[in-house]
Amino acid sequence: MPTTSDREDPTAEPGLGAVSSLGGLAAVVAENAVDDTEDLPDDDTVEVKKTNSYGRRRHSNHKYHKIHEKLDSSFHPNIRPLTISDLESCVVLENAAFTDPSHRCSREKFEYRLTVSPELCLGLFCTIVPDNANGVKLSTFPPSHPVETGRKDGARSVLLAHIVATRTDGMFVTDEAMDYPRDFRVSKHNTSGLGHNDTGSTVCIHSLAVHPELQGCGLGRLIMKSYLQQLKNSEIAESCALICQNHLIAFYERFGFEYLGTSGATIGSGGWHDMFLKVDNLPPYSMKPGRG
Ligand SMILES: CC(C)(COP(=O)(O)OP(=O)(O)OC[C@H]1O[C@@H](n2cnc3c(N)ncnc32)[C@H](O)[C@@H]1OP(=O)(O)O)[C@@H](O)C(=O)NCCC(=O)NCCS
Repeated sequence: MPTTSDREDPTAEPGLGAVSSLGGLAAVVAENAVDDTEDLPDDDTVEVKKTNSYGRRRHSNHKYHKIHEKLDSSFHPNIRPLTISDLESCVVLENAAFTDPSHRCSREKFEYRLTVSPELCLGLFCTIVPDNANGVKLSTFPPSHPVETGRKDGARSVLLAHIVATRTDGMFVTDEAMDYPRDFRVSKHNTSGLGHNDTGSTVCIHSLAVHPELQGCGLGRLIMKSYLQQLKNSEIAESCALICQNHLIAFYERFGFEYLGTSGATIGSGGWHDMFLKVDNLPPYSMKPGRG
């Protein structure tokens, strides 16, 4: 999703520490997890599948077979909140995923959002050992972090998809909500009326992106379902809003978003549509009662 003023600011200073602790969107999908559920809304939520079953299904006709083919044995998805240390990976992923530069979130906006609302930002990572990557070279590999310091096989945790968001009031993603206060690095209080509103009850998704090498493999669906589930489970927001182009309205409707009509957002070349979802309308995560 695009943002206003999405031009890179040459004065941007990378590397500011996140001011918010990671809380709301605690990672629900554990390392090596895969999503085996059907479209939302449904009775169950994203299931956590361990390596054992994952390994057995790797060669079966599983929905992630395209990823298995592309990455061979290196597909080990891991969904976690993003932090400011993921800034470079997010910028690279965004630039790769959005062919229209005016639809991309800028580096400075990523820095702002990963600083003020990291708990609303989610990344889908994959452990990749370069020698086992089946020749696939993802542009998010170079900025990725090692899985463990000094690991001999060079395994890294590589960003494949992200969702980046802030909070807003109301039901719409406006130009103001997509903007950011220029003094965010030095000012503790945002009085500009732009960007993140800490007391807003609506999560405003600004960017959903899947690496182009792996689009159409189910990762967009997986990260969006995980994200919405975590919004529901953590009870940190009442609703979720985004804008999208015409061809993605049906995609978002499948997650439970309602079409609200043509958006007033003016970024890029326009043509945006408002989508809105009440978190209460999502199915809850449930556990069966214990036997004891
Ligand atoms: C849009 C995007 C996030 C979808 O992610 P993805 O991993 O490619 O999608 P998935 O493989 O999870 O597809 C899930 C379903 O949505 C459908 N779908 C995916 N992209 C679609 C598109 N552009 N238009 C319509 N349907 C789409 C798929 O057919 C699939 O349906 P199925 O379950 O019946 O097979 C991804 O293609 C992307 O990053 N695109 C570029 C950036 C972008 O446009 N982001 C959204 C901004 S609003």
